[in-house]
Amino acid sequence: MPSKFEAFAACQPGLEPLLAREIENLGATPRSLAGGVAFGADVRLVMQSCLWLGTASHVMLRVVEFPCRALGELERKAKCILWKEWLRPQFAIDVRATTRASRVFHTGAIEERVQNAISAAFGKPIREAKPEDEDVARLSVRFHHDVCTISLDAMSTPLHRRGYRLETAKAPLREDLAHALLLAGGYTKDEALLDPFCGSGTIAIEAAAMARGLAPGRLRPPALGHLAMFDAELWMEVRAETRQQGSPEASAPPRIAAGDRDAGAIEAAKGNAERAGVRDMIEFTHGAFTAHPWLEGPGNAPARGLIATNPPFGVRVPKGNNLAPLYQTLGHRAARLGEHWRAVILAHDVRLARRTGLPLQARFTTRHGGLAVTALAGTMVAAAKAGSESAPKD
Ligand SMILES: C[S@@+](CC[C@H](N)C(=O)[O-])C[C@H]1O[C@@H](n2cnc3c(N)ncnc32)[C@H](O)[C@@H]1O
Repeated sequence: MPSKFEAFAACQPGLEPLLAREIENLGATPRSLAGGVAFGADVRLVMQSCLWLGTASHVMLRVVEFPCRALGELERKAKCILWKEWLRPQFAIDVRATTRASRVFHTGAIEERVQNAISAAFGKPIREAKPEDEDVARLSVRFHHDVCTISLDAMSTPLHRRGYRLETAKAPLREDLAHALLLAGGYTKDEALLDPFCGSGTIAIEAAAMARGLAPGRLRPPALGHLAMFDAELWMEVRAETRQQGSPEASAPPRIAAGDRDAGAIEAAKGNAERAGVRDMIEFTHGAFTAHPWLEGPGNAPARGLIATNPPFGVRVPKGNNLAPLYQTLGHRAARLGEHWRAVILAHDVRLARRTGLPLQARFTTRHGGLAVTALAGTMVAAAKAGSESAPKD
């Protein structure tokens, strides 16, 4: 049974530095690559990664890598793999091939040859995964410049599907992206958090979970549960571990507020927060952001905090609906919160985000719903001074 793995945590492009930091915090040595971060791991660390990485979408374990220039060679080499040390025959298997700059290019044939090799190892045909199967061993076979790499997903479903977001509003943000936004904004449990455009509540819920020290993967099935190296006792141990960010001494519970003008979105967000186990930590408000108690007037909000939000992007709003005044007003209200507040905004149109007048700097660029999006962060210091001179009408 393999006890050490070459692991690869995959993420949305652009999130690699944040993911590398998370992997480092787990005690591993990260190597950032395009689309993810490689690291050496044992079973415990793989389990910890699936449980605690907030910005990863998959954790892949490398089974084998070999040069390969023909399908016959692939099947022969795949038959040398000790599949019983990796797979459990009761679970369905999904083999997916990709190829680039290689003599072997027929992905369907690659998948068939690897399936043949696995069937030969178990002495019976493998059960191929159907869309309705939940526990599936997902195998990736990647050809690149005539080198074949076979890897196994440590989970059956992507890590960003945390399990709490069963209700969504318009344009929901992926959970890993919400997590990345909070990390890019430097959120800690020692400060307040506000998302005035909360939609289905993803950002506030991820923040509340961070503040409470809850693992992003806490609601998901056991890591490696469908693979041969699963160790139930070890999983219980890993589940029982705690991790805290922010100051260790007991402090007042953080204040986390979320608002939206869409009543349905607020109801969805409350349901999601309930499932996530953080409903008691979030103050939800239904209404326009200008009427949010913390943004309504100076002095109504906690003394220090972070606005973390993705306001309406503009591409889905009806033609002629100009969002510049919304961003301008958001910037003006945010600046009034004072120099102990910061903001991190996920925007599709960076020029629109600049209309806030806040001194924002790009932290990462990635993709969301088929669009390029940029996270911009900054403090209110410069804005507070500028804002007092040129307030927009709101
Ligand atoms: C891009 S979505 C936010 C999605 C959210 N992050 C999630 O994960 O579901 C923008 C949200 O802003 C809300 N919104 C638009 N204009 C608003 C306004 N003037 N005041 C408050 N909310 C507004 C919309 O109802 C929508 O839910």
